[in-house]
Amino acid sequence: MIVVATPTGQIGQQVLDYIFDSNEAVRVIVRDPSRLSPRMRERVEVVQGSHDDIAVVTKAFEGADSVLWLVPPNPQAEDPMNYYLNFTQPACEAIKSQGVKRVIGVSSLGYDFGSPAGLLSPAFAMDDLIEKTGVNYRSLRMPFFMENLLHQVNAIKSQGMFYMPNAGDYKLATCATRDIADAAAKLLLDNNTWTGQDSVSVVGPDDLSPNDMARIISQVLERPIRYQQIPSKEYKATMMQYGMSEAWAQGLIDMAAAQDQGIYNNESRIAQRTPTSFIQWCEEVLKPAFQA
Ligand SMILES: NC(=O)c1ccc[n+]([C@@H]2O[C@H](COP(=O)([O-])OP(=O)(O)OC[C@H]3O[C@@H](n4cnc5c(N)ncnc54)[C@H](OP(=O)(O)O)[C@@H]3O)[C@@H](O)[C@H]2O)c1
Repeated sequence: MIVVATPTGQIGQQVLDYIFDSNEAVRVIVRDPSRLSPRMRERVEVVQGSHDDIAVVTKAFEGADSVLWLVPPNPQAEDPMNYYLNFTQPACEAIKSQGVKRVIGVSSLGYDFGSPAGLLSPAFAMDDLIEKTGVNYRSLRMPFFMENLLHQVNAIKSQGMFYMPNAGDYKLATCATRDIADAAAKLLLDNNTWTGQDSVSVVGPDDLSPNDMARIISQVLERPIRYQQIPSKEYKATMMQYGMSEAWAQGLIDMAAAQDQGIYNNESRIAQRTPTSFIQWCEEVLKPAFQA
């Protein structure tokens, strides 16, 4: 039995697509089952509720061979570290009580950075918490999701620009969520070859600065697109105007600072780069979103 949390999220949804044709039984934890496609509702068993609820995860993890674990972003959280750990604690109890065999967690690249890293630090603490249960565990470690740029499609359309607090010329490792889902699905389906606790880096072929991204986006959209770095204070104030908690907004800024200090560059164990290049992602995902 494979259990997938967040089956309606961008990673969870693609994981389900990858495992759809397998012979494995699949169970999902979902708050609103009507958000699953009809095809998916027929294929999977549904446990309704939130995966931070002990009753829900206890039921969902019964007889589970492998679980995909992911803490949903919560921009209203007043304390991101507590939020990640409180969200994960019930699952850790259920992993033990239900004897789950394997867990794959969505985390971040940069575990060995050694300094506070804003919103990335809670993901590293989540890894530690899950590992304490003793379960066989793979932490998926990713850099900057290309999909983060989908939040900026309106600005790209209306202003020909996109904005982040990151330095324009500092190169960031990137990855596409389809490649994260592919890596997760392979681990979920593999009942034989992995045990113990380790990490798997999921890093795309391109390290790109925001200015590099702007050049490639311009090429694909056939119009000039520019990157604008926003000073930290201004970025934080804007995010809070949109309803983000102060702590989450600060976490974003601190994460960008860690990225500009090379948090993604210390990873010595990237065995193999994933296939989706940034230009391919722009052609296949960003451009259709821009044209929609
Ligand atoms: N963005 C990056 O560059 C980056 C880099 C490294 C790691 N990460 C990690 O990637 C993860 C995000 O993955 P994603 O992009 O696939 O997420 P996503 O698309 O935002 O999906 C969030 C999922 O969580 C569910 N959800 C939201 N709030 C919930 C709640 N309170 N209780 C239960 N379920 C809830 C949503 O379901 P509903 O349909 O019910 O709303 C949805 O299925 C985060 O843990 C983040 O730390 C991100």
